[in-house]
Amino acid sequence: MSAGLQNDRERKRCHLAWHITSRCNLACPHCLRRTPTQPATDLPPEQCRMILESFLQFARETDRDAEVEFSGGNPLLREDLPELLQTTGAAKKAGLVRNIRILGNPETLDDATVQMLQAAAVDDFIVSVDGLEPVNDSMRGRGSYRAAMNGIRALVKSGIPTSVKFTLVRDNAHQVVEVFRLVMEEGVRHFGMGPLILAGGGWTERHRALTNMEYRQVLLDMLHFLDAAGSRFAAARRAFLAHNRLYALLFHELGRLDEYRALTGMNPGPFGMPRGRRNVLFVVWSDGEVVLRREMARQGRVPQQSFREIYENSPMLHMFEDGFRIQELAREQQRDSIKCSACPVAACCLPAMVGTFGSQLLFAPNRNCWRQ
Ligand SMILES: C[S@@+](CC[C@H](N)C(=O)[O-])C[C@H]1O[C@@H](n2cnc3c(N)ncnc32)[C@H](O)[C@@H]1O
Ligand code: SF4
Ligand code: SF4
Repeated sequence: MSAGLQNDRERKRCHLAWHITSRCNLACPHCLRRTPTQPATDLPPEQCRMILESFLQFARETDRDAEVEFSGGNPLLREDLPELLQTTGAAKKAGLVRNIRILGNPETLDDATVQMLQAAAVDDFIVSVDGLEPVNDSMRGRGSYRAAMNGIRALVKSGIPTSVKFTLVRDNAHQVVEVFRLVMEEGVRHFGMGPLILAGGGWTERHRALTNMEYRQVLLDMLHFLDAAGSRFAAARRAFLAHNRLYALLFHELGRLDEYRALTGMNPGPFGMPRGRRNVLFVVWSDGEVVLRREMARQGRVPQQSFREIYENSPMLHMFEDGFRIQELAREQQRDSIKCSACPVAACCLPAMVGTFGSQLLFAPNRNCWRQ
């Protein structure tokens, strides 16, 4: 390994996952935000400016590479997004910020916004596509498929790295392969797919969730498709397989674990991986509340408190920035679970299962896991 790469791996990171607005131009029934616990208020521009400054200062003072992610709601609806992006873009030019990501709605993506994203050197713009036109529009609203495709074309044409995210339900599972192929042909770099999360609107819509075996079948269909495609989508294939942790289980079942290790760089099991790169993740809601992960305990409030202050007073943030410690915790918690404690890919799967199961239980078996 080169000295540069080694050094790169050892650098600490901090990630701001900022749900900067609760406003949205769509009203998807399955939306995670449809819950009384989700704040419905936004902060004024001067407070958002302070939040961003505080985060950049945290990165500077603690000598970390910073990553900034703007989400919502629809972050493109915030009038001060250009200013926030300009500041983030300048911090990127100065070498403090390594990555800028936006999860935005393409219906509100105009030429001026595309230029602004270009100027800030945005690293990834993520567009949600949940099926071919009729199915997507039944989930996300009429016209949203066309808007997504037009948005993808405009972004790709402007050289902005673009990804697609697909939320799996009963009605669209059979279209994943086709949507993957289609958006890749449009020049999309990454394709992420995840099952319906049963929280907020996802809980109301739970009758649409796939069974575990149906989910396994979708993973298998995608794998067959990617196998047949050879080297055609090599980079997207690697990221796709690494992102869906249950692929570790599927590769294990297929006797292809070595291939999985070589492809993703992940070591699925047993526990005891070398200490990973340290990364502190701040999830910030639109009202400034800072949480550990969705549905997990509150750690503080910005801009009233600085990120530095919140970090220094939060044993949880310290614990969760250490990938190795997360593994240890996962192992401790799953010691008595018959399913996970004897699982050959637990080291890969369990650490990713943190934080989506409510504040009380930090780790749990992947809800979509089909293993008995
Ligand atoms: C909350 S949205 C915010 C960004 C933007 N408004 C959008 O929809 O792309 C972030 C992502 O979460 C997905 N999502 C929303 N509700 C979900 C649920 N119940 N389960 C899984 N994903 C969900 C959306 O489809 C989107 O890809
Ligand atoms: S999923 Fe995204 S676009 Fe749909 S309502 Fe939620 S925030 Fe808005
Ligand atoms: S949920 Fe548990 S049993 Fe299933 S793959 Fe993950 S660690 Fe293994």
